[in-house]
Amino acid sequence: MAEPDAILAAIESHFSAPLAGLRALVTSGPTIEAIDPVRYITNRSSGKQGHAIAAAFARRGAGVTLVSGPVALADPAGVEVVRVESAEQMLAACRAALPVDVAVCTAAVADWRVKEASPEKIKKEAQSTRRNRPLTLELVQNPDILAALSAPGRERPRLVVGFAAETIDVLDNARAKLGQKGCDWIVANDVSAEGGVIGGEMNQVHLIRRNGAEPRVEDWPRMTKAAVAERLAERIAEAVSAAPP
Ligand code: CTP
Repeated sequence: MAEPDAILAAIESHFSAPLAGLRALVTSGPTIEAIDPVRYITNRSSGKQGHAIAAAFARRGAGVTLVSGPVALADPAGVEVVRVESAEQMLAACRAALPVDVAVCTAAVADWRVKEASPEKIKKEAQSTRRNRPLTLELVQNPDILAALSAPGRERPRLVVGFAAETIDVLDNARAKLGQKGCDWIVANDVSAEGGVIGGEMNQVHLIRRNGAEPRVEDWPRMTKAAVAERLAERIAEAVSAAPP
């Protein structure tokens, strides 16, 4: 029979650190894909949502690895941060962080990279003798990190959560991504220009969870990215306590 003090300590840590003992991986920020040593392709992601999720997990006692592309944000307290630039580096860093219990992919991974980045700065003159002739870059698809982490296998996290950045047909597109990527939950967010989500403080999301044939959708009100992170961490704590490791 456990001592009353031990029981009290266990209850206290359950409420103050409901994710204690859990290993979590979070991807955040954009990736950048080199064209040459001075130029690159990237996107407008700020990393705010991913960093807030990593911080919310750490505050609940999880051991967190945050794999982030270049962002102008401070490292969240109590989180191991791995900085990367390209999608291929991000995938390698994620694989190195395995095994984990939970993975949340919020990074805006560049979908394409230049097939062969030039080792030297591309000169306008070398392209053509004619002024204003368009430069053609050959792009190839980057690896899909969320799909790679979701693939069945010994190291698949127990819970894999993706984000779906959509500008139209938000719920339908997000439901389709849940199927295509093979993750367990997907957070659908409307990133159309009017919402100011990209780079902003606020977010408006729907949490879509696999539930047999028909995914279960929870509509969350418009709230700060920090509040989205808190609520997602709560949902994950509930899911983990319902099915402990
Ligand atoms: N994602 C990823 N690796 C990629 C592309 C996307 O891990 N190469 C992840 C994102 O982190 C996110 C989810 O997949 O969790 C959906 O990303 P999103 O940008 O919404 O969609 P894409 O898969 O890029 O598809 P599309 O651009 O056609 O909407």
